[in-house]
Amino acid sequence: MAVTSPPKLDARKLRADFPIFKQQIHGKPLAYLDSAVSTHKPRQVLEKLKDFYETSYANVHRGVYTLSERSTAEYEGARQKLAQFVNAPSDREIVFVRGATEGLNLVAYAWGLVNLGPGDVVVVTELEHHSNFVPWQYIAGRTGATLKMIELDDNGELDLSALDSIASEGRVKVVANNLVSNALGTINPIEKLSAWAHEQGAIMVVDGAQAAPHKAVDVQALGCDFFAFSSHKMCGPTSVGALWGRLELLESMEPFNLGGHMIRKVTFEETTWGEVPAKYEAGTQPIAEAVGFGAAVDYVNEVGLESIERHEHELAVYALERLAEVPDIKLYGPPADRRAGIVSFNLGDIHPHDVAQVLDLEGVAIRAGHHCCQPLMQKLGVAATNRASFYRSTRSNSGTTAARYAGVVSDFYREVILDHYKNPRGHGAMDAPDAQAEGMNPLCGDEVTISVALADDGETIDEVKFEGRGCAISQAATSMLTEMVKGRSASDVASLPKEELLEEIGIPLTPIRLKCALLGLGVLKVALHRAKGTPLPAEWAGLASELEIS
Ligand SMILES: Cc1ncc(COP(=O)(O)O)c(C=O)c1O
Repeated sequence: MAVTSPPKLDARKLRADFPIFKQQIHGKPLAYLDSAVSTHKPRQVLEKLKDFYETSYANVHRGVYTLSERSTAEYEGARQKLAQFVNAPSDREIVFVRGATEGLNLVAYAWGLVNLGPGDVVVVTELEHHSNFVPWQYIAGRTGATLKMIELDDNGELDLSALDSIASEGRVKVVANNLVSNALGTINPIEKLSAWAHEQGAIMVVDGAQAAPHKAVDVQALGCDFFAFSSHKMCGPTSVGALWGRLELLESMEPFNLGGHMIRKVTFEETTWGEVPAKYEAGTQPIAEAVGFGAAVDYVNEVGLESIERHEHELAVYALERLAEVPDIKLYGPPADRRAGIVSFNLGDIHPHDVAQVLDLEGVAIRAGHHCCQPLMQKLGVAATNRASFYRSTRSNSGTTAARYAGVVSDFYREVILDHYKNPRGHGAMDAPDAQAEGMNPLCGDEVTISVALADDGETIDEVKFEGRGCAISQAATSMLTEMVKGRSASDVASLPKEELLEEIGIPLTPIRLKCALLGLGVLKVALHRAKGTPLPAEWAGLASELEIS
């Protein structure tokens, strides 16, 4: 039988569905390469939301009047669409939640708290988003179960050879894994893991947040027990997602949230639970958002998941090839045939925040950070990576743009602040400083320690030294600061306005980058106020706590 490839996408045409692309960013067309974090919304979804609010909105499953019935029909209609979307045997198996995170927490709490205990093993992977890691780490800790990790190989793929040894550690009760990794794009062997989990008598929990928007999902073929995904990552509204679970499990589990709508009967003595899925949908739900989620499913189906997957694969192949040409680049993750449209990289020793900022000046939006995968970053030995992620309306020249501008990042910094970054002034330790403090920006791992020596008058700053590591902005700003404050009075510097430093830095900074830029100044202020016994001004106290300055 001839195998036909899915129809090719017309990304340019699809782009016209998204009003957000009408604007320019810094005078350049927007190349949005951050769909993995969240997607923009097409006109079709925005119009559905508007129409629903204008014609059909009311609370659901409560009123006996026309609007409530209409609203309920739309809400339940969205549930049916979602059930079909993941090939669920019954739409009762779809629970509306706030997002993938809440869906995974629901399973961890409602199933885990009751079914786990000492001697049990919860298996997650080194590739998990915090949403499918932290709840299991926490519930394992609370119940006395052991948390075990499936490790990654050098390609960023799961090393399944250790499964037998994991099974020998105790009773494996839960296996939790994402179908597609948000950080590396790795497509994981869920069918195999589901089969293994069931052999052990465990449940298989799948984080589908990065898979559902990009490839056809069949929960029955995956063989899993739970599958969680979010609307906002697939062209739908925020604050709604879905958890698919096997009916018998959903029926046997305890509820997660308690309150209105989820009950069968409430008396002064006791409460009994309603039917699935109402049992898990306490309180007023994100009604319009759920309806919008249904419209997003229609949109994605109309475009065609096979075509989306093909398009993103082509972009990943192209981006990997072009980025590989950039000097000093380090690419993470498996070859294109085993990854989704997500490409993570680092550029020499340039911090990802610096790369992302320069790209932003060119209208290119990528993500830079730990991607809510700190254990994975630890494994890779980096604080953060750059990540470009693609979707249906990404055009292939966006890939070129990313590669091209990644190439010019180092030039930009050479001109602006690379000198301070590469040749930091006042770098080093100090014996017996008169004032000292240190700080760390947990968002990106920038670290700075500043030591100050005062002149004999006890007031004039004689010398400032700093040690640290992190992005060019944090390190260069601290280097500039050491030159700016030498010879000035400690009291003046303790009240130095941030604008003076920002003017010296001289490049536009987003709120996140502002924290990188102000790390050194915050540390210096804390050091000087502490030495002088004066209180840190309130406007700096919040930042000092956020940047863990002490
Ligand atoms: C793999 C993965 N899992 C879970 C989540 C959490 O999704 P949400 O924030 O929509 O709950 C994300 C979001 O980035 C993700 O990428």
